[in-house]
Amino acid sequence: MQTPESDHPTPPSPDLAAMREHYAHEGLAEADLADDPVTQFTRWFHEAGGAGAAEPNAMVLSTADAEGRPSSRTVLLKGYDRRGFVFYTNYGSRKGAELAANPYAALLFPWITLARQVIVQGRVEKVGRDETAAYFRTRPHGSQLGAWASEQSSPVDGREVLEQRYAELERRYPEGEGVPVPPFWGGYRVVPEVVEFWQGRANRLHDRLRYVAEGTGWRVERLCP
Ligand SMILES: Cc1cc2nc3c(=O)[nH]c(=O)nc-3n(C[C@H](O)[C@H](O)[C@H](O)COP(=O)(O)O)c2cc1C
Repeated sequence: MQTPESDHPTPPSPDLAAMREHYAHEGLAEADLADDPVTQFTRWFHEAGGAGAAEPNAMVLSTADAEGRPSSRTVLLKGYDRRGFVFYTNYGSRKGAELAANPYAALLFPWITLARQVIVQGRVEKVGRDETAAYFRTRPHGSQLGAWASEQSSPVDGREVLEQRYAELERRYPEGEGVPVPPFWGGYRVVPEVVEFWQGRANRLHDRLRYVAEGTGWRVERLCP
């Protein structure tokens, strides 16, 4: 039930306007960049891990529906190479439905400890079933069952519904028993068209170097921060 605002004074909020970090990091120069964004990504990925970034393979995936309305969520990068960046999910989820209608996405790696972010934009394709099956087999038994139990992004009547589904699956596929790959679950590959490397610098004069796919290679451009 709604109650008057006077019954619920707004709690004091943090002074967000005063919150700012002064970045004094080393810069990113054109001369230091690798020839291709995948090699550059590998360098930065190792540096993010070395600097103690929590789950450096966590990335924000943004998709948009057929009308162009965007949505974002965190997913885990589970593989990458020159073909693209791979994550796994439920094909029937909200992101799955959006990608079916509009197969383009953006990925953002927020490596804030190093005042860095990497943004990948590109077309999205499903990975082959063999590749999905190979990855699914590496997942812990509980995660394999979890993928079956969750109709991701659909409303559910309560947590107990999920727990009951999981318990039934545990009886059907006890530990040690092979769990089949759910047909509604698998990988997507974001094939990079644009990859931006952003490094925070002093006085907000940040470095932004962007690779843009051109023919079989890459062109690099610097963007104003
Ligand atoms: C750190 C972290 C990692 C996650 N990794 C994945 C993932 O790899 N795949 C996935 O489907 N959901 C993952 N999620 C859950 C998603 O953020 C999201 O809730 C779910 O995929 C449903 O998204 P959708 O309804 O927009 O499709 C992760 C969440 C967090 C916070």
